Amino acid sequence: MTGVNRKLGILLSGRGSNFEAIHRAIAAGTLDAEIAVVISNREAAPGIETARRFGLKTVVMPSQGVPREQFDRELVRVLNDHQVGLVCLAGYMRLLSGYFVQAFPQRIVNIHPSLLPSFPGLDAQHQAFDYGVKFTGCTVHFVDEHLDNGPIILQAVVPVEEGDTYDTLSARILAEEHKIYSKAIGIILSGAYRIEGRRVVSVS
Ligand code: GRF
Repeated sequence: MTGVNRKLGILLSGRGSNFEAIHRAIAAGTLDAEIAVVISNREAAPGIETARRFGLKTVVMPSQGVPREQFDRELVRVLNDHQVGLVCLAGYMRLLSGYFVQAFPQRIVNIHPSLLPSFPGLDAQHQAFDYGVKFTGCTVHFVDEHLDNGPIILQAVVPVEEGDTYDTLSARILAEEHKIYSKAIGIILSGAYRIEGRRVVSVS
């Protein structure tokens, strides 16, 4: 499709393995997109170091103590400076203001390590494990003003095995995250979907 803005802005706060998976998919040619900028709100985020190593444009914007909307206005400015068309949250540990969400309507996506709407919030893998579910997984969804709430683009199911520990389960969920995030970004960039209420429906 012509005219689609394929420039991604990645926001992260930590390890950055989902960012790396997106980068890999682009390098492998399975995702037609470009990472325009990687932004971290934490100086020490390993993901930002990886992005530098990859030769990508990086910006560190320490957020501690900065009022939410003031911080988000600056963030929107940086994303716009890089002509970002789709914002990808990849382990970004900060709630977004209404201002930010409205600046990129249906152009912000997030990956969450559970089958939403079960286990939103922090440490979803632990929550699911402790609850004793037999199936969990991960979800890629559009971001709205509520936590882990927007319309769902893709999910992957991960069975909980008898011998699982929190770590083995989290590792299997993460492996699925790395597959579905790039796939979901590809769906959005293809434009071959529409949002009906909460449902993301394919159109051909
Ligand atoms: C992932 O589990 C993701 O689902 C959640 O934060 C974690 C980030 O991991 N939103 P990484 O930084 O991408 O390795």
